Amino acid sequence: MVRELRAVVSLGGSVAASPMPDVRFMREFAELVAELTERGHSIAVVVGGGRMAREYITRASELGASREVCDELGIAVTRINARLLALALGEHAHQLVPSSLEELPPWDRVIVMGGTEPGHTTDAVAAMLALRLGAELLVVATDVDGVYSADPKRVPGAVKYPRITGAELLRLSAGEHTAGASAVIDPKAARIIAESGLRTVVVKGEIPRIKAALLGGEHGGTEVVGHG
Ligand code: UTP
Repeated sequence: MVRELRAVVSLGGSVAASPMPDVRFMREFAELVAELTERGHSIAVVVGGGRMAREYITRASELGASREVCDELGIAVTRINARLLALALGEHAHQLVPSSLEELPPWDRVIVMGGTEPGHTTDAVAAMLALRLGAELLVVATDVDGVYSADPKRVPGAVKYPRITGAELLRLSAGEHTAGASAVIDPKAARIIAESGLRTVVVKGEIPRIKAALLGGEHGGTEVVGHG
């Protein structure tokens, strides 16, 4: 009998909803999560906003909106993406998407949520949710295949780290949060991970890799282990 797993997945909008919500991917991801819950594992998922969030943020910004208002629009998109994923999960998930960590349903079915409040991204929400639920693992499924020394899309010589500490992750993510900004993990999430020592795997958002990250197989991503 495999030990029961308690894990939170931060499902990047770049993976599940770019340029638009990807129903085929959501179905496949829902199948994986359903299979895991049927085997007795507890899973929660925080869904990102993807391209659509960025489009709304850009337009709001053109209209002179404050950073906070831009963030609010981003949050709204993450929540409708979360609602779609909950639909794909059907009876395996709570259909009501909690809008804060103060109103979580019991973890007897998959909890699916999006953003909570301005000032961070859904990676930070996922890290906070993992601590709140007492999960032992956070899987960050994104459009890059791990944590690199620099942005691999812009720096050709960037190297991928198979394993880093929380402190190293924090150093690599250092910078200010800006609405719609894209880094592999936002600084607030990195700080929570570094301070708590929450075991985290950053992995390319493909179903077999996400499955391997959850169950301890070859995922080809980055393991973040320990505080310092
Ligand atoms: P995402 O979590 O999708 O951020 O939230 P991201 O890093 O830009 O995108 P991916 O998932 O890696 O592609 C989209 C935007 O919504 C706002 C932020 O402006 C964020 O950039 N947001 C989201 C919040 O302000 N608070 C939240 O809790 C979540």
